[in-house]
Amino acid sequence: MSANEEVLAPVPAWWTDAVVYQIYPRSFADSNADGIGDLGGIRARLDHLEQLGVDVVWLSPIYTSPQADNGYDISDYQGIDPLFGTLEEFDLLLAEMHGRGIKLVMDLVVNHTSDEHAWFVEASSGKDSPKRDWYVWRDGIDRGEGQPTEPNLWRSAFSGPAWSHAPADGTDEYYLHLFAAKQPDLNWENPEVRHAVYDMMNWWLDRGVDGFRMDVINHIAKIQDDLTGDSPGFRMGPQIHDYLHEMNLSVFAGRDAELITVGEMPGVTVDDARLFTGVDRLELDMVFQFEHVGLDHGPASKFDNVPLDLRDLKRSLSRWQTGLADQGWNSLYLGNHDQPRSLSRFGDDGEATDGRLRYESATLLATILHLHRGTPYVYQGDEIGMTNAGFTRIDQYQDIETLNWFAEERALGRDEAELLEALRFRSRDNARTPVQWSAGSQAGFTEGTPWLEVNPNHDVINVESDRALGSRSIFEFYRRLIALRHESPLVALGEFALLEPDDPTLYAFTRSGDSGRLLVAGNFSGSDIEAPILVEGPWSAGSRLLGNYEGDAPAAVLRPWEVRVILA
Ligand code: GLC
Ligand code: CA
Repeated sequence: MSANEEVLAPVPAWWTDAVVYQIYPRSFADSNADGIGDLGGIRARLDHLEQLGVDVVWLSPIYTSPQADNGYDISDYQGIDPLFGTLEEFDLLLAEMHGRGIKLVMDLVVNHTSDEHAWFVEASSGKDSPKRDWYVWRDGIDRGEGQPTEPNLWRSAFSGPAWSHAPADGTDEYYLHLFAAKQPDLNWENPEVRHAVYDMMNWWLDRGVDGFRMDVINHIAKIQDDLTGDSPGFRMGPQIHDYLHEMNLSVFAGRDAELITVGEMPGVTVDDARLFTGVDRLELDMVFQFEHVGLDHGPASKFDNVPLDLRDLKRSLSRWQTGLADQGWNSLYLGNHDQPRSLSRFGDDGEATDGRLRYESATLLATILHLHRGTPYVYQGDEIGMTNAGFTRIDQYQDIETLNWFAEERALGRDEAELLEALRFRSRDNARTPVQWSAGSQAGFTEGTPWLEVNPNHDVINVESDRALGSRSIFEFYRRLIALRHESPLVALGEFALLEPDDPTLYAFTRSGDSGRLLVAGNFSGSDIEAPILVEGPWSAGSRLLGNYEGDAPAAVLRPWEVRVILA
């Protein structure tokens, strides 16, 4: 390579070969027996993260909060909630993580605050409040009901209207809340709001954190014409790119090479994502898109569960791979604290098969995800194959979205058993049960009573017993996948191509680059399938890089939930 070429060759960002681990602190590990996970619990489990080999931890919110939405309702952006610990302990955690070479990403929840945040308390004190315009207020509309009703027909993501009165302000105005009434939306049109947020972000970066995961960040821009009148649903405004670019210049400039930023964006399209993540545009590093996690939603709502067709999943993810191949970057996830457990949703979690294929299907899902091009996110517990909660009674649930939806549907007369069945698959609490550390009391999560019941299957599924399994340890398999991304430029950067798009059970693709080609082939079913590709062209003479079965099967057959990675 000539000196000139060396200058021109773009250096891939560090996060192209990084893996992120998400901690939902409330459910990770409890250090003081109050039943709620905390910073002390995380500090005590850093060996687990270091051994897994992850590069980054994304911490769901730990800020001061009334906990109406488990911390996604923040009343002080610069305080740590006493449930989780103190700022001093946070600094210790950060230093300890950095000491182990792990970066820390904070959750940034700035579409809305808590209604108990000082800004909203001030804004809702009356129309003349200097902070009135920091939130979104509108008069009601006369729809012939004798008195004005909501300014428009938007619904909150957590059921009911997206507008409420703030009784303390002595007016009839409504404030906007796209989520719960306790989560009023900030008015990003107001530059004072934007700069207060940037100041706060700079304060955290100066403290040493390594980036942000930005909660529903595309919702900060709302189409103003829609705010009055009977528009049916919330639409995102084009100002979003200006806001994120301004944020980039005000917060990340000069230090962005070390940081990682990811914007959670329900409804984002591939074309939008190219703009949000194009390097030269100076907005974000990557986004969380939702297309692939909406494929098993029926027309009625996210609780309208329909079976997933693997062909849809392959088509969707490969469109994102191709769409962001030359500009932008993908984040890769199959689960998080808002989604069902990935193993119960996409694999065989063992409920009907006595756990026989749990190892195979958990490792297959991990392989398929981690070998796409993008930055993989591991959700806590996935590395040991945790499953959905299995709750059968409404009083076992805690999640605000779940409880509000259930109450609303019951009020409409729907059958309780039918609703519980829908929740057993879809409720966010499925992914929020405590991490199963051992077969002991409360799965080793707490010495007290956990805030959400531990899954009774912790007697079999837990970190201790998984790690004792040697060649059948899911944790060990994740470790190898994570190491592979670190070592192999082909895994990090290789070009993606989907094979056999119309096959209903075979998920196969290649990754190609200067150092060779990889074939990834996985069987998304509990029966043997033919996979002729395995013996075609270069693959018949290729070497096996990774797989979740020991011993050889006939070369062109994949056994139940088998995955094979071949290097040619
Ligand atoms: C995001 C969070 C979710 C939260 C919502 C409102 O989707 O991931 O947990 O309830 O935003 O903040
Ligand atoms: Ca605790």
